[in-house]
Amino acid sequence: MNFAPELISLLRGTSKLVALTGAGVSQESGLRTFRDAQTGLWAQYKPEELASPEAFRRDPKLVWDWYAWRREAVKGVRPNPGHYALAEMAKRVPEFILITQNVDGLHHMAGNRKLIELHGNIQRVRCAECYTLTETWGDDTESVPQCLVCGGLLRPDVVWFGEPLPRDQLEAAVEAARTCEVFFSIGTSGVVQPAASLAFAAHNRGAVVVEINAEPTPLTPKANYAFHGKSGEILPKLVTAVWENGR
Ligand code: OAD
Repeated sequence: MNFAPELISLLRGTSKLVALTGAGVSQESGLRTFRDAQTGLWAQYKPEELASPEAFRRDPKLVWDWYAWRREAVKGVRPNPGHYALAEMAKRVPEFILITQNVDGLHHMAGNRKLIELHGNIQRVRCAECYTLTETWGDDTESVPQCLVCGGLLRPDVVWFGEPLPRDQLEAAVEAARTCEVFFSIGTSGVVQPAASLAFAAHNRGAVVVEINAEPTPLTPKANYAFHGKSGEILPKLVTAVWENGR
């Protein structure tokens, strides 16, 4: 793959780079993207119908079981070369901020520490009523486990459709997007707000926008550079071209 010499020299010299990732980055680790069809028991449901406060109110056990199943799926997976390339970039760029919509924790596992998890983390569980985080619970019970503090139902500590994003994380993400020199959008369909607007905010502030995604998205026409393919293949090649070749 060939990268434009201007892009290579821009990345070598940049002091502040922000990357926003979505489910596509974890696809090569074996996790389905959010909008892929589900399989097995869960094929009859759309994720949008399960990931909401209404769904939890209607049938808490169904939603709890779906997350227990997803938590199990995440437990067995490892970061892929795309995650490791982003951890590598964090070592090369003076200020590198990674914003993710993923709840799978794979960026942390790959070594990224300056990480904004916009949609929470599936491994954390909290009370739906009093917000207390819980370390231990049983997944095999007949009903949804309850909070030991107030008796409320436990739920995953993730953001559901119709819920606000954690304020601190959102503010930090907006600030990062508005002040970066280069903004990467990777493996995200760019249709879920407010995450999708971050790339546009960066673009409006004059940042160079680079998209890496399997297919074109609403961001593509605005991107200064767009690469369509697998992030686990493109990102390592980019890191090699920028920081390892010809230095
Ligand atoms: P989507 O499933 O909407 O989009 C994933 C994107 O990744 C698609 O555009 C795919 O073409 C692309 N893709 C797939 N495999 C890829 C690969 N190997 N390399 C690069 N790109 C690849 O997932 P998100 O954009 O993350 O929110 O979805 C955003 C949010 O929507 C999720 O965080 C979730 C959902 O609502 C909540 O749960 C709150």
